Amino acid sequence: MTILVLGGTGKTGRRIADRLTSLGLPVRAGSRSATPPFDWQDRGTWQAALDGVTAVYVSYYPDLAFPGAYDDVKAFTELAVRNGVRKLVLLSGRGEPEAQASERTIRESGAAWTVLRCSWFMQNFSEDFLLGAVLSGVIALPAADVPEPFLDVEDIVDVAVAALTQDGHAGRLYELTGPRLLTFADVAEELSAILGRPVTFVRVTPEEYVSAAVEHGVPREAAEGLGHLFTDILDGRNASVTDGVREALGRPARDFADFARANAHVWKAPQG
Ligand SMILES: NC(=O)c1ccc[n+]([C@@H]2O[C@H](COP(=O)([O-])OP(=O)(O)OC[C@H]3O[C@@H](n4cnc5c(N)ncnc54)[C@H](OP(=O)(O)O)[C@@H]3O)[C@@H](O)[C@H]2O)c1
Repeated sequence: MTILVLGGTGKTGRRIADRLTSLGLPVRAGSRSATPPFDWQDRGTWQAALDGVTAVYVSYYPDLAFPGAYDDVKAFTELAVRNGVRKLVLLSGRGEPEAQASERTIRESGAAWTVLRCSWFMQNFSEDFLLGAVLSGVIALPAADVPEPFLDVEDIVDVAVAALTQDGHAGRLYELTGPRLLTFADVAEELSAILGRPVTFVRVTPEEYVSAAVEHGVPREAAEGLGHLFTDILDGRNASVTDGVREALGRPARDFADFARANAHVWKAPQG
C-alpha cells in the first residue's frame, strides 16, 4: 500500500513525501538518489521502485515539454498499472502541447487519475534557477512583457496530498494558477519592496540568456530548454488566472506577496 513520490527530493515531491509521512502513510521517494534509485533515463530502475506501490505522484524530470518525456511517461504508466498501481496524480505544465500528450496517457491508463496542470512556480525564485538572480539583484531573462499567474508550490502540495489520500479528486484535471497576474518586472518590484533593496528585471535575448547560464555552470541543453520555455510558452497563452485551487480545496490560491514575505529570509541570507 506504498505511495511512490517521483521527484521525491524536488520542490513539490519533497513536500508531498513529508506531508504523507506525517499522515502516517507509507511513502517511497523516487529519484536517482533514493533507495532503490529511480531514474527516468534508466528504465531498468523502474520495476524495483514500483514494488508494492498502489499510488504514484508522477513528476517528470526535466520537463514534460522536453523531447522523450511522452515516451517515458507512457512506458512508466503502463508498467505501473501492470504492477497494481490504482491511482496516478500527474504534475503537468500549463500551455504545453507536449505535456498534454502525457496527460492523455495518464487519463487513459485505467487507473484513477488526477492531473495538476500548473502555471510557473513561485519557488523558482527561492529554491531553483532564479534564486541566484534574486540574490544578485538582477533578474535577466528573455521574457517579454507578458504576465504570468505564478503559483505557490504549497498549493500544489495541498492538492496533490488531497488527490492521493481523499476521495472526490479522481477523473479531475485541475488547472492551477496563483490568484494574480505578474510580469517579471512586477515580480522584481514586489521583491524590492519586501526586501528593502533593489531587484531589477532586465530583458535579454535568448542567446544572451543561454550563454550567461552556461557560464554559470548550467548544462547547455538545460539552458536551451529553459530559453525555449521563456520564448515559446511565455507568449501570453497562459496570461489568465483560474479558480483551480479553490475547485480542488475550497479555498483561494496563495498570493505572491505572501510567498515573498514568508521567504524573505532566503534572499536576505549572507552569501558565501
Ligand atoms: N518550475 C515550474 O515553474 C514548473 C511549472 C509547471 C510544471 N513544472 C514541472 O515540474 C516538474 C519538476 O518538479 P519539481 O519542480 O517538483 O522538481 P525539481 O525541484 O525540479 O526537482 C527535480 C526532482 O527530480 C529528480 N530527478 C532529477 N533527474 C532525475 C532523473 N533522471 N530521474 C528521476 N528523477 C530525477 C531529482 O532528484 P535526484 O537528483 O535525486 O534524482 C528531484 O527530486 C517538471 O516536470 C516540470 O515540467 C514546473
